[in-house]
Order: sequence, then C-alpha cells, then structure tokens
Amino acid sequence: MNERKKVTLPYLFKKVQNGEPITWLTCYDYPTAYFQDRAGLDMILVGDSLGMTMLGYDSTLPVTMDDMIRHCQAVRRGAPNVHLVGDMPYMSYQPSVETAIRNAGRFMAEAGCDSIKLEGGVEMADRIAGIVKAGIPAIGHLGLTPQSVSALGGFKVQGKGALQAKKIIDSAKALEEAGAFAILLEMVPDRVCKIITERSENCIIMSLGSGPDAHGQLLIYHDCFGLYPKFKPRMAKVFGEAGKVIQEGLIEYVKEVSEKTFPQPENWFGMTDEEYNALDELLEKDKR
Ligand code: KIV
Repeated sequence: MNERKKVTLPYLFKKVQNGEPITWLTCYDYPTAYFQDRAGLDMILVGDSLGMTMLGYDSTLPVTMDDMIRHCQAVRRGAPNVHLVGDMPYMSYQPSVETAIRNAGRFMAEAGCDSIKLEGGVEMADRIAGIVKAGIPAIGHLGLTPQSVSALGGFKVQGKGALQAKKIIDSAKALEEAGAFAILLEMVPDRVCKIITERSENCIIMSLGSGPDAHGQLLIYHDCFGLYPKFKPRMAKVFGEAGKVIQEGLIEYVKEVSEKTFPQPENWFGMTDEEYNALDELLEKDKR
C-alpha cells in the first residue's frame, strides 16, 4: 500500500520556504511512475519528449494531445500521490488562448493531472493567464524550448549573451505576473537562473541544466538511466545503467533460447499423469 500523502501546491511552496529542493523527473509509463512515486519524488512531468524517448521521432513536434493524454493516464495510475504535470504538445496552445484553455482542461479532466506546462516567454503570457483564470495551475518553460528548436538554431544554451539573458529574465517576470506558479529554466546559464530565482516572489523556479540556485531540479528520466540510445546531454547525470542491464539481459535471453537452456521446469506448467492418460484415451477414441 502507498502511504505517501498527496503532493499539493502548498506543500511545494512550503519546501521552497524551508530551502528544501524540489525533485522532478520526466516519466511516461505506469511501472516507472510506480517506482518514482515510491522513491519519494515531488513532481513528475509527462513531457512531450516522449515523442523522442518512447515513440522514436527525431523531435517533439509530431506528438499529439491524444498521445499525451494516454501517457498521462498511465503515469497517474502508477503514481497517485506525486504532483503530475502534463506537457502541452506542439500547436495545442500556440493558435489561441481558447485552444490553450480547452487543451489544458483535457489534461485535468481526462488524465487527472495537477497542472500543465507550456513553452514560451512573454508572447505566451496571455495563454498562461487564460489557463490560470480557468482554474488550472500552469508552469512556464524558458531557455531552450524544444518545440522552437528550429528557430533557436539547435539544442544549445540560451541566454549566454547579456541581451538574450535580459529577455529571459523579463519573460520570467511576465510569466510570473500572468499567474504561472512555476517556471522551468532549461539550459540557461547558472547566473541567469540565480537572478531569476532571487527575483521570483511567488513562483517556483526549476532548473534543467541551469545550475544549483533554482528551487529544484528536473532531469529527463531516460538520460538518468542510460535508456535513450541516440545521445546523452552533457547536463544529465547517469544514476544507474539500466539500459546496459536490459541490453545484457536481452543478449542472454537470445543465447539461452538458442542453446535450449531456457526454459527449465520452473518456467513451465504441467498436468497430472491421471489427466494426461485420460486425454490420451480421448485422442485415441477420435482416431477410431
Ligand atoms: O518534454 C519534456 O520532457 C520537456 C523537458 C525537456 C523539460 O519539456
């Protein structure tokens, strides 16, 4: 039985007040969600990164609302107590405030999410304001925003120059004023993250590769456990080589089946001699 209390927004703000870092990982499936909840994680992001980590696309752009809802539902079943964040996929909020509110509502009503996240700065402040006014807690996402990777010129650090850093700082304030309860800073220089964290009044600042001064940390689960075969970003730490363990296990399975050392008696089911003899008689009768 799961004894944890549900992670609420007041609980997250209390952690910030006490100077305790908030823990956050991505997750896309039921068994991993179960493990993450049992590990005591505060938050889970069902990221549209699932397009790459789970579905094998080269980017997050093909991911649909239906993909997101299906994975959020599975994660919610595995992790009933964490704060569950649904990531709004490409074109589910960009067209208009109304589109953004309707799709944010689907995460809450159909998947039991606790909040949503969307990418973009000051230009997306009206989407955040609309969603928050509809009663849905919202998280902003600044810095490297993968849905705009083409416009940003690739997966690289954002805000290294003073002008760009100032733009990110201004956007963070705009999102906070629009009502975002949290903002994720992805691949922003540590000193820019520190300034934003120090200036935030009522907004939780989270870091993904943006240094230690935020109120908490996020990593992509697949990067932490060697589960994404194409690359590992520099900022990710590998906390366990699950990918290697699985690969070695698979090679062993192929070997044992090929060499007929698997299965062994404990891996199959039998029947009593009495039933087997009765079956034999039935089959003999069929022949007559
Ligand atoms: O989709 C995702 O997992 C994300 C992270 C890159 C922050 O948005």
